[in-house]
Amino acid sequence: MQEIIRIRGRRPLNGSVTISGSKNATVALIPAAVLANGPVTIVGVPEIADVDNLSEILHILNVDVIQRANDHLIIDPTNMKNVSLDDSVVTKLRASYYFMGALLGKYGYVRMKMPGGCYLGPRPIDLHIKGFEALGATVEYDRGCYTIKADHLRGAKIFLDIASVGATINIMMAAVYADGRTTIENAAREPEIIDVATLLNKMGANVRGAGTNVITIDGVKDLSGCFHEIIPDRIEAGTFVIMAAACAEEMKIMNVIPKHIEGLTSKLQEMGADMDIGIDSITVRKTDLLYKPIDVTTKPYPGFATDLQQPLTALLTQANGVSQVTDTIYKERFKHCLELQRMGANIELTSGSAFIKGPTQLYGDKVTATDLRCGACLVIAGLIADGTTEIHDVYHIDRGYDRIDDKLRAIGAHISRTMID
Ligand code: EPU
Repeated sequence: MQEIIRIRGRRPLNGSVTISGSKNATVALIPAAVLANGPVTIVGVPEIADVDNLSEILHILNVDVIQRANDHLIIDPTNMKNVSLDDSVVTKLRASYYFMGALLGKYGYVRMKMPGGCYLGPRPIDLHIKGFEALGATVEYDRGCYTIKADHLRGAKIFLDIASVGATINIMMAAVYADGRTTIENAAREPEIIDVATLLNKMGANVRGAGTNVITIDGVKDLSGCFHEIIPDRIEAGTFVIMAAACAEEMKIMNVIPKHIEGLTSKLQEMGADMDIGIDSITVRKTDLLYKPIDVTTKPYPGFATDLQQPLTALLTQANGVSQVTDTIYKERFKHCLELQRMGANIELTSGSAFIKGPTQLYGDKVTATDLRCGACLVIAGLIADGTTEIHDVYHIDRGYDRIDDKLRAIGAHISRTMID
């Protein structure tokens, strides 16, 4: 048995949609909470499978997790036990690797399985490991399990060869209790990193410079519980903005920090989309003119986000001419194009780039969400397409989008879920 999503396309969307808390911040904030020595309340937690899996890891660690309201999570690590994380749940998502930094930082020891997550081509964690080693840890890898230990973590200067989001956050967490000052140079600058630093500082840590490419962490002796509200999900926001540009009469996307998705909105403006950008909302209106084709190259923040290139590709099938999408972060992140081709898209693939020739009518078909953002791309394609689209492997979508079908149904989409054999 598996769940599929069915979409009957070409229904105009109308109304407003509220964006949930950021998935990629949440999946780091939850492991970061175990660094505290008291309860941490996190508000704005999205209803996604990654949160369920992280909660399961917390249970394995004997951390109390209390869900107050739908989006309120209280994480109390007071009775935590640093047991080996060799359960298969660790491999269900990539962000389980944040327990490496958090447990190493708190106990000087962590043993856990290799993390999983979407296949987007090779996703090494060498920079995380080098960071831990620079802080004084030894790292062993044996039969799918990492053992990372340190008698004493000492602050160090760490230069990241690539501005990696995961390595920046993991090193920040490992360094909060270390002796002295840690400096991360060429740090990633994504908004989720600022959110994690904000939580750590509310707990009593001394992290400076998050959001710039140099972050300093001065080690402290104790961290306590606190209250934290998660930033809105910029990728979910971007996905709905693209959806609106593709098939809305008028749609207001609320609870957005527009600055976080300027890389996208500037490109949509170049295409000719009709948008009103407010303080915390974006309204998109239907335009009668055909969209212009564009060239997009993904870059680390504040550049165009790799996580949005897949959803955007669905819209580009409707632009008038040839658009080019180049992914410099994940050169193999193009499986969605094969699914779009199945629906009638005219896309040529070369190494690291897709050339999308539009406008082409898309037709509903049986397609597979090969990864999370491929799933979002196919939902958009399904909304555009003539006929019914059947999306398989929707568990990928549920890992990162908070009730996407409910949100879409509320604004007029014909979308449903069914169990099939
Ligand atoms: N990289 C290395 N070595 C490392 C770490 C990264 O070579 O040790 C490379 C990666 O292979 C990639 C680049 O550096 O080419 C950037 O990777 P990064 O570490 O920044 O990515 P990540 O932390 O694994 C996060 C998001 C991804 C998002 C990327 C890039 C989370 C949980 N995941 O991954 O989100 O695509 O940053 O912005 O925060 C998604 O939400 O769909 C998703 C995949």
